[in-house]
Amino acid sequence: MDSKIKTLNEKLEQTKLGGGQARIDKQHQKKKLTARERVTYLLDEGSFEEIGALVTHRTKDFGMENQKFYGDGVVTGYGTVNGKLIYVFAQDFTVFGGSLSETHAEKICKIMDMALNVGAPIVGLNDSGGARIQEGVRSLGGYADIFYRNVQSSGVIPQISAIMGPCAGGAVYSPAMTDFTLMVQDTSYMFVTGPNVVKTVTNEEITSEELGGASVHSSKSGVAHKTATNDVECLEDIKQLLKYLPQSNKDKPASLDYELSDEIRETLSDIVPESSNKPYDMHQVIEGIIDENSFYEIHKDYAENIIVGFAHLGGKPIGIVANQPMFLAGVLDVDSSRKGARFVRFCDAFNIPLLVLEDVPGFLPGTDQEWNAIITNGAKLLYAFSEATVPRVTVITRKAYGGAYDVMNSKHIGADMNFAWPNAEIAVMGAKGAAEIIFKREISNAEDKEAKWKEKEAEYAQLFANPYSAAERGFIDEVILPKNTRRKLIKAFSMLENKEVIRPHRKHGNIPL
Ligand code: HXC
Repeated sequence: MDSKIKTLNEKLEQTKLGGGQARIDKQHQKKKLTARERVTYLLDEGSFEEIGALVTHRTKDFGMENQKFYGDGVVTGYGTVNGKLIYVFAQDFTVFGGSLSETHAEKICKIMDMALNVGAPIVGLNDSGGARIQEGVRSLGGYADIFYRNVQSSGVIPQISAIMGPCAGGAVYSPAMTDFTLMVQDTSYMFVTGPNVVKTVTNEEITSEELGGASVHSSKSGVAHKTATNDVECLEDIKQLLKYLPQSNKDKPASLDYELSDEIRETLSDIVPESSNKPYDMHQVIEGIIDENSFYEIHKDYAENIIVGFAHLGGKPIGIVANQPMFLAGVLDVDSSRKGARFVRFCDAFNIPLLVLEDVPGFLPGTDQEWNAIITNGAKLLYAFSEATVPRVTVITRKAYGGAYDVMNSKHIGADMNFAWPNAEIAVMGAKGAAEIIFKREISNAEDKEAKWKEKEAEYAQLFANPYSAAERGFIDEVILPKNTRRKLIKAFSMLENKEVIRPHRKHGNIPL
């Protein structure tokens, strides 16, 4: 028995070395942690249970039978984060560059199946040279097996991807189908075709970083939801994110202990400027409402005219969608509509109540927007809110104009409670533009056209640039003082906690994609 135990121990020791010490050193020189170090850092201490540590590939071509490493380039298993079960896979770049073989894919699929059947989040730490070149189509099949599972798990369990090295070719489509993609600056990149192919096809000279680095994907393409400066920060971000999420769509997200007091926040009274054309930072409103330091922003540097993220309110997780007057005056455009819609759908799938903070002057005009399908993309946000059955509450902090009023979680599309601050302006359009259209003849016939215009603008503003017309019709449930907002919201979400909506049966809707 002793010799058998010795054999096992020797094998297990080997598994820890991946592709060997020299390659581990190389990984460290690149300022990257190894797969095992990443898993250890991510999970609660001592909680990791590895599955399939002794798996090796089955390839005999190209002399591969003589190059076998335990684990075959991916560490898989389960453990806990913040005390809750998660499944994890971490690609090991020290073994064939973390490339995906048939067996490597089988290991990932095994834990994906477990995560789905048990109902717990799955986290993938990607660091791979793509398809194992020596395996050809078997590797492509392995990718497709993973993609298929990503889709089956979508909306059932949270799926999180971290890109911590290369992620190229078709390999990008697994992270793309998960709920959140996090990237590490300088050491990770994602693209469908790399710089060499780009050069051949379009003659553009571009580096990997410029083509698909973390900053590009977090600001230009929106592929990355969050960026970290190094591996440790990225893993920390994942741990934080998991605090807001339920284990599966059958669960509610866990609450933190919180003792309520009177919950008045005076700071909220001084944020919105007197002049309705002056910008202010909606982050201040968010911070004024939520539990201290609890905001976890998603897509921070992408489509900054809308803010989305998670927070705790009285200890309970909520999702926030808020117009940002600091950027493009908070208008809705193609990118912000897509960003908002995806976030709303995630929250709805995973029972996370939605808070909307609204200050929106309308949709962004222009050929760029029209030709890039603001019609279809704006409709995504409208659709996403309309189909959401989680508790939904809106606070209009200033402007709610035009179609954007309807879209931003209005009562008409199923919001549960709609509040407005006393300075709110809820109208078809701004008073100046409205006066120009409906009083066109009077203005052009007037001796002093400018004065007439101003008079009519004031008349229109008096009538509509306030929350009372909407409140009289019940489109606004209550006009509230800013300082009372947090208290009102805690009460409203608590009142809505057991909300249930039964929709007519359908296979699935047809969101305008
Ligand atoms: C097998 C691979 C590999 C791969 C890297 N390696 N990529 N082995 N299949 N795809 C091996 C290398 O031979 C090397 O082995 C080790 O991993 C580290 O690679 P290096 O090149 O030394 O590392 P680095 O300089 O950091 O460059 C990393 C890299 C480069 C940029 C990822 O290795 C590379 O370009 N690899 C090929 C990428 C690729 O074309 N993949 C296929 C894409 S098609 P040793 O023994 O020296 O340590 C694809 C389709 C998926 O993925 C479709 C899904 C639908």
